[in-house]
Amino acid sequence: MKRIAIFASGSGSNAQRIMEHFKRNKEMEVALVLCNKPDAYVLQRADNFEVPTHVFNREELYHTNSIDNLMKNLEIDLIVLAGFMWLIPERIIQAYSKRIVNIHPALLPKFGGEGMYGKKVHEAVLESGDTETGISIHYVNELFDEGEIIYQSRCLIDSNDDAEKLAYKVHQLEHLHYPKIIEDLLKKLDKKVYPGTH
Ligand code: GAR
Repeated sequence: MKRIAIFASGSGSNAQRIMEHFKRNKEMEVALVLCNKPDAYVLQRADNFEVPTHVFNREELYHTNSIDNLMKNLEIDLIVLAGFMWLIPERIIQAYSKRIVNIHPALLPKFGGEGMYGKKVHEAVLESGDTETGISIHYVNELFDEGEIIYQSRCLIDSNDDAEKLAYKVHQLEHLHYPKIIEDLLKKLDKKVYPGTH
């Protein structure tokens, strides 16, 4: 069995689609949802799928190994960021080289970076006068939204689109593509070997 851990900070509509996608898969599963906000709706969504959850704060993520140990014990193969708004610490990036992916609601390298999330991204896209937008799925490195791009999908911007309408279109693209791209990545990944456990 290959196992996914999802990091999320908010509503978790992407997390929901990913959990739905893998629910009946016998070779891959969502084994853990990690969240930095105790009242985030994603936790409810995970409960509905009977996926274990873990809530943490900055101190735990950046200054202890407890999340690392949790992921090791659950034999996590791939880390999926789905609306997670903090940087992943360098030690985790090193331990999960090419095993951490993120989704961004625009066509990177444009409209990325610190503070670029949610409505702000779509407002910046509209402001730019671009005629298309879309999604980017990329590997995660130490910087916000800068890892190697794995996949992009585009949609047109209509003259009457506002940030809310763009957010809706982009979410549709995310929900359609992210679970499938994750599945394809997992198929290609060897089972992760944790030092000291094999
Ligand atoms: C998604 O649109 C995702 O692309 C974005 O947060 C949203 C989370 O929605 N991520 C970023 O902006 C990362 N920079 P969700 O909680 O409904 O899945």
